[in-house]
Amino acid sequence: MSEAFHLTFLDPPFNQSKDYGVHDDRLPEKTYWSWMKSLCSKIHDLTAPGGVIFFMQREKNTEMVLRTLRETGWHFQNLIIWTKMTSAVPQRHRFGKQYQILAFASKGEKPRIFNRLRVDLPPAPHHKKPREEGVYVTDVWTDIRELTSGFFAGEEALRTSDGKRIHEQQSPIHLLFRIILATTLPGDLVLDPFAGTGTTGIVAKQLERVYFLIELNSSHVKVIKQRLNKVRPADDVTKYLHYYRFTPNLLEIIGESLVPKVRELLSKKSLEEYLRKQE
Ligand SMILES: C[S@@+](CC[C@H](N)C(=O)[O-])C[C@H]1O[C@@H](n2cnc3c(N)ncnc32)[C@H](O)[C@@H]1O
Repeated sequence: MSEAFHLTFLDPPFNQSKDYGVHDDRLPEKTYWSWMKSLCSKIHDLTAPGGVIFFMQREKNTEMVLRTLRETGWHFQNLIIWTKMTSAVPQRHRFGKQYQILAFASKGEKPRIFNRLRVDLPPAPHHKKPREEGVYVTDVWTDIRELTSGFFAGEEALRTSDGKRIHEQQSPIHLLFRIILATTLPGDLVLDPFAGTGTTGIVAKQLERVYFLIELNSSHVKVIKQRLNKVRPADDVTKYLHYYRFTPNLLEIIGESLVPKVRELLSKKSLEEYLRKQE
């Protein structure tokens, strides 16, 4: 396989002493970052021209993430601030920490695909008028809730029969929906080298992208297979279509099976008029 992937979602263990079973999450800093460097370099080799990567990390590692991507040939596009809609981690000598980063970079100067997504973001209190046609997604993501630990993680969090979380680092469906929809087309090939619970796969499958998942822990691999076998209502991406309905080329990028649902949403006259204006 060479230069095949159009998108990689890189969500590695953050080296913060979490229990991953097989993986040691207490590596010396130098070892960890040289591992990340060799990975980013291999992924770059395996990426199609114009293909992209989203490297997720803790805010405190921003400098290392940007350096690692730059030194392995990637071109920087955005540093995405994901505020996760949760409360801040209090700090004694500095401001409380409230976000995680996603570095978005491409192979070559420009991404081959960048779909400008528009969402129905509720207006901020200082905005005078409601936004009747939505807004373009920016590099600050305030509208995606992380699956917090414990009870508040909600329906989407995978659990054992006695209610325990299967994977504390499970990414939200909405996060992958946004990333995959913005940077790929139906039929494109998506890679997740740290698949965890397979969130990338379950979203890619519904959006008709081809997915390639790697996971070290065999019990997680079982979970991924089950999850992919039958889409649970909590994993169903159709719930986001309404929120993204102002995206001008939504019908072309959503995948054949979701087209009727999008058409239904767009059938309101005002929306059709708006979309015509965008053409
Ligand atoms: C942060 S979690 C990813 C969570 C994932 N985004 C999800 O939605 O579930 C990182 C995952 O990487 C796995 N992992 C650790 N070392 C690995 C390796 N060398 N190869 C593949 N997977 C690995 C861990 O078992 C863990 O499930």
